[in-house]
Order: sequence, then C-alpha cells, then structure tokens
Amino acid sequence: MDEGQELYRAGQHLQREAQKGYLRWGAGPTTRIAAPVEQLDLATVVQASQLLSGEIVLERLIERLTVSAVEHAGADRGLLFLVGGDEPRVEAEAIMGRERVTVSLRQAGLGAAQIPESMLRYVVRTQETVILDDASTQHPFSADPYIIQKRCRSVLCLPLLRQASLKGVLYLENSLSPQAFTQARMEALGLLASQAAISLDNAQLYADLKQAQSKTQQAEQELRRVLDTISASLRRSEAYLAQAQRLTHTGTCAMRISSGQAEEIGWSKETVRLLGLDETAKSSLENALQRIHPEDVALVRQAVDEAGRSGAGLDLAVRLVMSDGSLKHIHVVADTMKDDSGDVELVGAAQDITAWKKALEESRALRDRLFQENVALREEVDKASMFEDIVGSSPPLQAVLSRVCKVAPTDSRALITGETGTGKELIARAIHRRSPRSLRPFVAVNCAAIPKDLIASELFGHEKGAFTGALQRRVGRFELAEGGTLFLDEVGEIPPEIQVALLRVLQERRFERVGGTQSISNDVRVIATTNVDLDAAMNAGAFRRDLFYRLSVFPIHMPSLRERREDIPLLVEYFIERFATQAGKRFRHINKTNLDLLQSYDWPGNIRELQNVIERSVIVCDTKEFSVDEHWLASRPLAKEPKQRTLDEQLIGEETKLIEAALAESGGKVSGSSGAAVKLGMPATTLYSKIHRLKIDRRRFKRH
Ligand SMILES: Nc1ncnc2c1ncn2[C@@H]1O[C@H](COP(=O)(O)OP(=O)(O)OP(=O)(O)O)[C@@H](O)[C@H]1O
Ligand SMILES: [Mg+2]
Repeated sequence: MDEGQELYRAGQHLQREAQKGYLRWGAGPTTRIAAPVEQLDLATVVQASQLLSGEIVLERLIERLTVSAVEHAGADRGLLFLVGGDEPRVEAEAIMGRERVTVSLRQAGLGAAQIPESMLRYVVRTQETVILDDASTQHPFSADPYIIQKRCRSVLCLPLLRQASLKGVLYLENSLSPQAFTQARMEALGLLASQAAISLDNAQLYADLKQAQSKTQQAEQELRRVLDTISASLRRSEAYLAQAQRLTHTGTCAMRISSGQAEEIGWSKETVRLLGLDETAKSSLENALQRIHPEDVALVRQAVDEAGRSGAGLDLAVRLVMSDGSLKHIHVVADTMKDDSGDVELVGAAQDITAWKKALEESRALRDRLFQENVALREEVDKASMFEDIVGSSPPLQAVLSRVCKVAPTDSRALITGETGTGKELIARAIHRRSPRSLRPFVAVNCAAIPKDLIASELFGHEKGAFTGALQRRVGRFELAEGGTLFLDEVGEIPPEIQVALLRVLQERRFERVGGTQSISNDVRVIATTNVDLDAAMNAGAFRRDLFYRLSVFPIHMPSLRERREDIPLLVEYFIERFATQAGKRFRHINKTNLDLLQSYDWPGNIRELQNVIERSVIVCDTKEFSVDEHWLASRPLAKEPKQRTLDEQLIGEETKLIEAALAESGGKVSGSSGAAVKLGMPATTLYSKIHRLKIDRRRFKRH
C-alpha cells in the first residue's frame, strides 16, 4: 500500500471520529440547535462546522476556522493561537475587509503590541472564556497595553478545548460596536469552537502522522542510502581484496574442523589459481592435497590435525606439483577460531613464494660467489699490503706468498726450508704479521748462534742459582713470546738433549725453567727455519723425527734466487733505491751489461748476496749510471754450464777474462807502457777493437 492511500485512510478514520463527536454533541448535519439564534446564522455555523470537521490538513483548517469565526462572530479581526509547547503560538490572523476576510498564516512577527497578552495568558491558564461587551469600560484587562492602544469595543477570547485539554485560543475583536458578540453568536461560536478543537486535534494528529510518516520515510531513505553505501564499499573492498590477492599471489581459505574432520572449506579465486585447479573444482581439503608434493602431504595433514585438536594456528611452507610437473613453493599461515560447539575454524592465507625462493637461492649463490671473490681479492690485497717488503713477482715466490696467506690466520706451526739468504726469516715475520697474534710479540732465537750449553736457558729461562753464573732468575724466549710467535731460526742446530725438551713444550704446551720445578703453561706459535737438509740429519740420527713432524705441520720451501731469476731486475731496482736513498745518491739508469750479468749469475748466497753486492756498488759507484764490479761475482761459477757452451763461446769467454784481467791490472788503461795491450802482447789498436767487439766496459777498471 502506498503512502498516499495510508494517509487517506487515517484521515478518513479521524474524520469519522470527528463526525461521531459532532453527532454526540447534537451537531449532526440534520440537527437544529434549539437555542434562539437566527436560522441563517445557525445553518451557516453548522455548515461551517461541517466544513471544519471535513478538514484534516492543519493549515487549511486553521485558515477556515479563523475565517469562519471572524465571519460568524461579527468580528473585524481574529487571531488563532495553538497551544503546543510552552507558549501559545499565533497561527493565523484574519481581518475583515470590505468584501471578504483576508488571512495570513503563521504571523510569527506579531508582538505584544498586536496581541492582548494578559488576556491570552489568562485564558490559557484558566481555560475560561473572556468576553468584553465594551472594552472601553473598566475591566480586569484594562491595563493591557494592546487594549489601551487599540481601544476596541467588543473582545472575545475563547479557549478551544478537547476533553478538558486546551488545543488553542480564538481571539476576536470588534473595534467599532460594543456587544458585538451576542449570546446567539456565542453559542454558534461555542459550537464552532468545539468542532474546531476536535478538528484541530485530528489535524494535529494527522500532521503528526504525516510528519512521523515522512520521518519514517526519511529514515528509510537514509537506511537505504547507508545500505547502498555499505554494499558499494563492500563491493569495492571485495574488489580490492581480490586485486590484492592477485597481485601478491595470496589466496585465502577457511576450513571448519569438526570432531577432527575437515568439513567445510571455502577458498578464494586466487587460491584456486594458486592450486592450479579448475574454477569449478569443489573446495575440499582432498582436492588441495592432490596438488601438494607427496613428501609434504603428511606435513599438511599433521598440521591440520594439530590445529583441530589444540586450536593452535599453523605456519608451514609446502611444495605444490603443478599439472605440467613444475614445482611451486607456497607459504601457508592460518589462525583458529573456536565456536560454542567446540568446532574449530581455520582461517588463513596461502602465498606463492616460488619467485621469492628462487630469488633467495640466487642471492645465496651470489653471496657465496661474492664471498669467494672477496676472499680471493682480500688475499690479493693482503699480499700487496702485507708483503710490501717482499719483492718479486715470479710464480715460485707468488706460490710461497699464497701459502703464507693460507697458514697465517691459523695457529699451525710452520717449517720454512730453503737455502741461506732466500728470505726465510722475512716470510716467518710475514706469517706473524698476518696472524691473530700480530699484536703480541715475535721473538726470534737463532739456534746456531747460541752456545749449545746455553740454549736451554735461552729458550726456557732459568731460576736463580740454576747453574754457575745464574745470579738472577731469567725469563726464557718461550715466556717472552707468550701469546705471540716464537721464531726458531736454524732449528736444525739444536742439540739432541734440547730437542727432547722442545718436543715436550710443543706437545704439552708446558715447560719448567732450568733449575725450576714449577710447570709453566705456554701459548706460543712456533715457526722454525732450517737451511740444512733435515732429512739427512734425521737419517744420521742428529735430528729427532718426532720433533720434525711437530714442527713441520705446514712446510714452506723458499725457492733459491736461481729458480726465480725474473725477480732479479725488480730486486736490483728495489735495493738500489733503498741503499741509494740511504747514501743520498741518485742513479739515472743501470748498466745493461751489468744487469744481464746479475741476472745470469747463480747467486749461491741468494737475495742476501744480491743485496750485499748492490749495497757495495751503491757505495762505490759515483756516476749517474749504476754499475756493479763484476769481480765481486767473478769468483763464483756463472749460471751457464761450461759444458753447454760452444768452443767459440768458451774461447770468447777466456779471451774476455784475459782482457778484463789485464784491464783490471792496468786500471782500465789500454795503450802505453803500463797499458793492457803491452801486458797482452798485442798492438793497442787490436785490443781496442777486441774490447769493442767483446763489449767490455773499460771504465769499470778505472782507478778512482
Ligand atoms: N723477496 C725479497 N724481497 C726483498 N728482500 C728480500 C727478499 N727476500 C729476502 N730479502 C732480504 O734478503 C735478506 C735475507 O733474508 P732472510 O734473512 O730472510 O733469509 P734467510 O733465508 O733467513 O737466510 P739464512 O738462512 O741465511 O738465515 C734479508 O735482508 C731480507 O730482507
Ligand atoms: Mg735466517
């Protein structure tokens, strides 16, 4: 039923009610009021009354009532007040014009100057009718400002009562004639007033009903709007959620577990996509398990059982086997909710982490590769920085340095072997510098340089009075090296009795001072060197084999300079620079013949010998060209084996030697009585040409 019809019915009902009341009070359409009033007036009043009873729209009723009252009461002005809240409200003002009555509704602006306020309040309070036949005479409201000012003659103020409840007040005045409101008119008005009260009540109810109706309608509209908004935002949220699921490859899933059984399961579209199932596939645990990797199925079942039993959530990574055989990694997390019946609902999400896993593996591989590269680079950098005083780029030396890099960070003992002067001590120091012990002492003991009977005391210290001359307690090298490195140089020279004591320290890391009983614990890393053949020494019983194995945990063999001739130019340059700086000299270049000579020489004393030759040469060389006195090398065999040389070469060699010897004797002079030519018994010109051909540098033999 629509709103109009409903209102119409309510209106009809009210109207019928009104008519019943009308009849009850003897004002039915056929009833004649018995009071002695003019027939016309009564008929009009009854008609008016009927008209009022038929009006349920409040505004129209107010208008009609005011107009009828003014017309039938013989008033020239009428006001209708309604009593709703605290104060009576002016609803209409009717003024009798020349031809008709004009009405203005809701004259809110009417103030005290247009209303007899004291009278109105009196009527509202007492609910009694006030009638002034001649307002110009003395009466209780004479002091009312409006009455004084308006000077109207007849005044009527009539309460509109409905079952003893004040609905409104009708105010009428006639400003010209006194006693305008005759008894008959009063009665007609009374009738009109009762009808008006009922009609007003009805109209009010109707208005309230309409208002309530419109409020309901508004509320309904508001509700509909809210519902529309909610459903729109729900639809939007759902779309966002689906989008988010798609973008993050995350599907959602809910599962009810009743008596340990997974009963209902619901999942999102993304879950279906994730599982690679057909869109129409039934959402069930069994269907999902079909996709799970056979090795992970038990894991999933166990997690679901556990969740159903304990109400705990789950968090696991499983593999899916897709229809094309490819693997997918997913991460499933879920929380549980328990209802009153004890059933558990698992609500969670499954995310495809295949790409992430792949990236992780790649990044792990990359990290490992970078780590390896880093280690290699660090080794390179370390080699460059830690071995700055170790000159040479030959493969044999680089191999040694690489071994140094490996052993240095460990705590292993090292045995460095090699000919004299090959740099064994240099390497031992480099190992210490690169080790975690680098901040602790590096203590060197040259075992060959210490008298045999003092070696024990030197190594382990002695107590006061341990032997003749031991006036004070002395701390040995082992104790001095505590936490650091003990360098045992020429370890092959240690006498057998000390070898035993040394073996014990290496095994037990404890020793006693000579003449002492207190066992001292010791944390020392031992690096030893030898240039004697320890194998031969062991075979001869001069060196303990067990000690050898204790020392030679990490053997490093130093190549001789002969085995790395390519390092000679670098070393020459390095030593020239070093000694020239010390001597305050500067050399522009090196004599090429000399350099060849240095490179072909065998260097039995290895780098130490080379170092000495260069140092000596720097001292004696006063020209800008650096040269070496080859006599300093001459006493040694040359690198090239004589048997490999041709006869010609041998002859040239011999010839060169003879000429150089003669030049050395003559101080580089060729001609003259003391010249080399005379000594050799040949003309000076011949010797000059031979010197030139054999590329002999005469200046080397000049005496300074
Ligand atoms: N690669 C090198 N670069 C620069 N100098 C070096 C190099 N190798 C050795 N030396 C120098 O040569 C000299 C001899 O080296 P070191 O004392 O280490 O040799 P060694 O093998 O211990 O000799 P020995 O067996 O005679 O004791 C030292 O002055 C050292 O600085
Ligand atoms: Mg040495």
